[in-house]
Formats: sequence, C-alpha cells, structure tokens
Amino acid sequence: MNSYDVDAPLSLDTAAPPRPPRAAAQQQQQQQQPHADADYPRPALPVTPVLSLASLRRGGARRVPCILDAGQLRLVTSGRIAIALALREMGIGPGARVLLPAYHCASMVEPVIWCGAEPVFYRIRPDASVDLDDVAAKLDADCRLLMVTNYFGFPQQLHSIRAFCDARGLRMLEDCAHSFLGEHQGRPLGSFGDYAIASSMKFFPMYEGGCLVSARHDLGGVTLSSAGAGFEAKVLLSTLEDAFAYRRLPVLKALCSLPLRAKNLLWNRIKARHAGATAALAPDSSDGGFGFDPAWLTKRSSYCARLLLKLVSRERMAALRRRHYQRIADAVAGLPGCRPLFDTLPDGVCPWVFPLLVDAPEPVFDALKRAAVPVIRFGEYLWPGVDATVCPVSVDLSRRVLQFPCHQELRETELGWMIEQITSVLRQPRKPT
Ligand SMILES: Cc1ncc(COP(=O)(O)O)c(C=O)c1O
Repeated sequence: MNSYDVDAPLSLDTAAPPRPPRAAAQQQQQQQQPHADADYPRPALPVTPVLSLASLRRGGARRVPCILDAGQLRLVTSGRIAIALALREMGIGPGARVLLPAYHCASMVEPVIWCGAEPVFYRIRPDASVDLDDVAAKLDADCRLLMVTNYFGFPQQLHSIRAFCDARGLRMLEDCAHSFLGEHQGRPLGSFGDYAIASSMKFFPMYEGGCLVSARHDLGGVTLSSAGAGFEAKVLLSTLEDAFAYRRLPVLKALCSLPLRAKNLLWNRIKARHAGATAALAPDSSDGGFGFDPAWLTKRSSYCARLLLKLVSRERMAALRRRHYQRIADAVAGLPGCRPLFDTLPDGVCPWVFPLLVDAPEPVFDALKRAAVPVIRFGEYLWPGVDATVCPVSVDLSRRVLQFPCHQELRETELGWMIEQITSVLRQPRKPT
C-alpha cells in the first residue's frame, strides 16, 4: 500500500488510458482535509504488512477460514474495483438506489456513483452494527442492494441481515475489506452476501490486491486480463521497496541497490521528458487514494500478489494479529479518556486494526502522528451530506475512533515501542474535544 520510500517511486505508463475526472463530491471532500500526511514524519513502523522472510513462515495447525474459501473468486487490484464488478453483475445502474453504511470511506461510495446509482446512507449503532430498523425505514421499490461492512474484522449479525434481505428480495454485498480472514457461526466471512469483496493489500504484504467472491452466483461473466509487464514490474518493485523502507530483506536490498538506483535515474529522466503525459502504472488505491478508476475493472491482480496469497501463511497472520490486538487492548485498559470500540476479541475474529474510541481525538491524533506512530482513521471524511442528521453515531465514530496496526509483520520491538507511545500520549490529561 502506502509507499514511504525515500527513493523516487516507479510510476511509468504512457500507454494507459486517461484517468476519468474525479467525482465532484470527492474533490470537495479532499478540500475539507485539515491535515495531510506530509505535515508529519514518516511512520516509524509499517502501517500495513511489508514483506519479510517471516511472512512466508508457516504457522499454526488449524486452517483459518477465509473469504477465498467462500465461493467463486476473481482476483482484482482493489476492493473498490470488486465492488464495481459486483454492482455490474447485479445490473445496478441509473434509477437504482444502494443502501450503504453512513460510517464509510469514499472508496466504498465511488463505485456506486460510477455505475449511476444513488447512494442512500443507513445508520449504524454505537457498536458499529447495522441498524436494521433504519434500513427498513429507508427501503423503497428502487432499493436493490444492501452493503454490509464487517468493520475492523468484526462480523455483523450476518444471519439476521441475510434473512432480512431474503424476506425483502434485497441483494446483499458483504464488504470484507476489513475481514479477509475469519468466520461467523461456523461459516467463512464472505459467504453470507450474494457477493462479497475484500482488500487483500490490507492483510497481505502486497502492493495491490482485492477480490470479488460469490457463494451464490456464477462469476463466469467476469473476465480479467493482464495489466501488462509495466504493472507487474511496478508491483514487484513497490512490494520490495516498501519492505526495504522498513528495514526488511536487508540482503536483497543490498543486492538490488544498484539496479534500483538505475531504475530511479531512468524513470526520473523519462518523467522529465514526458512531463504531464505520464499516467500511473498501478491504481491510485495502492497509494492510499480514495479515487475510483474504471480502467482497472478488467485487470487481473498481479502475478506477485497472486503468488503471495498462496505463500503467506493465513494461520500465522490470524494468530499474530489476534496476539498483537490483545497486547494493545491490555495496554490501554483502564487508561483515561479512551476505550476499545469492541469489548472483547471473540473467537473467529481476525482483526484488521485495533480501533480505540478516544474522548479528545484531535490532540491525541496529532501527538501520535508527531511521534511517528502509525495511527489511522477509517471514515475520517464522510461523503458530503452525511452529517449528524443522517447518523450521529457515524459522525461520532468517524471523529473519535483512532486505529493502530496489529498486523503480523510488526516486530516485537516495534509493537512495544508503539504501545509505549500510545500509552504515554493517552496518560497526558486532556479535556474531551
Ligand atoms: C470498509 C471498506 N470497504 C471497501 C474499501 C475499498 O477497498 P480498496 O482500498 O481495496 O479499494 C475500503 C478501503 O479502505 C474499506 O475500508
């Protein structure tokens, strides 16, 4: 995902189709952003998993349930592309309405805008569960689909939601962007929706990747092709550069140092010569953007990402994510001005991050970012028009929930350092903001 490497990133593609103009709503949203990552030091440890030799280590005897087991599968470059493909498969377009959670990020809404449907935002409850009473109140004959997100890896009440949809002839899209691994009442996440999507790059040490899954419908009509050699090279190099930037794979880094310098030199020359005419080799989603580019709809995930899906141990990933989550939970227990969003870590949950509800989010976020702690805020910028009249809980969560990585590639020393920073910032007395 985010590449923080000091060296110039490879982004070379003169042949790619021009990018479409961004949705006006998204431009407006970006103008609202009060702070940018550029204002802060680079995070001292990786926000998302980076490749190391340990990534490939086997771990745990029990096979961990996963969206890849849930049904037919198509591997694409991001979760948002998978959402758009699901919408297309369901024939959702102009005139249709899609029910989306009011607690969301823009990349969940962009595909709905792209296909011409109208997003309708439903309320969620303080524990981030779907408010089915509000969904029922918002339903009308044009509502075709309910999108349900398993926030931060924690499953929704999926059986009840499935029954609700079945009773009303509503399709269900299970959004597993935060829940690549895990199960609910004996079934893998991703197997409840008519379609399900995931964002592999949030869980695996890879630069791009998402998937579309269906346990109920044939995906034979979704055909994908290679995005080309430039894309494959870009993904491989970015995966390695992300790892090198965080002191992983040092021997390989030393061996690659000369070729990488040559690549950067060459690329800088090409950029200078074609100023303004170069388009991205990889989608914006790989660098943390919220944009949606339909040029990637027909593109298969890279060979590198598909190989890593096979090689990286899910068992190790689930065990370490749960262990790291619990370490953070134990460390913040009883600290003033905060509490975990979820009281417990139930069996079968493989967390994406550790979400912490903070009373004074602004100064705490700022202090942590200044200390180079990799803190993030899912849903920080809600879609224009989604305010407290639509869902007060979403507005509150989007402001107050700070998230910390608990991924499998955090080293013991990194986790210890991050916990020390978090607890020290939270111990400082602050008034709720
Ligand atoms: C809940 C949720 N759904 C969908 C997406 C889209 O996933 P991607 O970034 O892989 O396009 C995201 C992205 O952050 C997300 O948080």
